[in-house]
Amino acid sequence: MVAVEGETGVTIRPAHPDDLAELVEIERAAGELFRQLDADLLADHDPGSVEELVPYADDCRAFVSVDARDRPVGYLLVDLVDGAAHIEQVSVHPDHARKGLGRALIEHAASWASARALHSLTLTTYLDVPWNAPYYERLGFRSIPAGEETAGLRAIREHERALGLEVWPRTSMQRFLA
Ligand SMILES: CC(C)(COP(=O)(O)OP(=O)(O)OC[C@H]1O[C@@H](n2cnc3c(N)ncnc32)[C@H](O)[C@@H]1OP(=O)(O)O)[C@@H](O)C(=O)NCCC(=O)NCCS
Repeated sequence: MVAVEGETGVTIRPAHPDDLAELVEIERAAGELFRQLDADLLADHDPGSVEELVPYADDCRAFVSVDARDRPVGYLLVDLVDGAAHIEQVSVHPDHARKGLGRALIEHAASWASARALHSLTLTTYLDVPWNAPYYERLGFRSIPAGEETAGLRAIREHERALGLEVWPRTSMQRFLA
């Protein structure tokens, strides 16, 4: 598939099998941001494996933003959860942070979901981490009250708790699509 030049000038394309090792490295590097908040446990969290990324690449549910040499510098994974496109992960390498790549990846996911008639984007995230819920709010997401989460989102939250990720308050968020 041909790479897409978004409105922002960021180039986003589906992930190729050859990209996947780089995505694991991006995940590890992006996690370093959490050391700023003394959350070494999160920074040291398993960044996942190429094998876990293969189904996303195979289904064209992994998107990468690339540099001028077509090398991934950020990525986003989508799952289908209760009729929504659920952002399973979005990460940008710190060397390329705060240039709008995260926003462009999320807008790409919104277009992808709209083209499939999905009603919304969802995600789960930390409520008070500056580059998590406050950032997503600026991108049009709103927190879902705990009692209103779908069964799929509740299961994801439960899985995250079991992994020990709930070191701070977390929330599910949703952005409705036109
Ligand atoms: C969340 C993430 C993907 C955003 O990517 P990005 O390309 O840097 O984001 P954008 O350029 O679109 O937006 C930047 C905004 O994010 C927030 N942000 C990003 N890094 C930040 C930091 N270190 N401290 C505070 N806010 C930060 C700010 O609101 C920033 O806007 P500003 O630069 O005008 O202050 C990236 O920070 C990341 O990979 N974080 C680590 C992994 C993570 O937490 N993923 C989300 C899991 S739910």
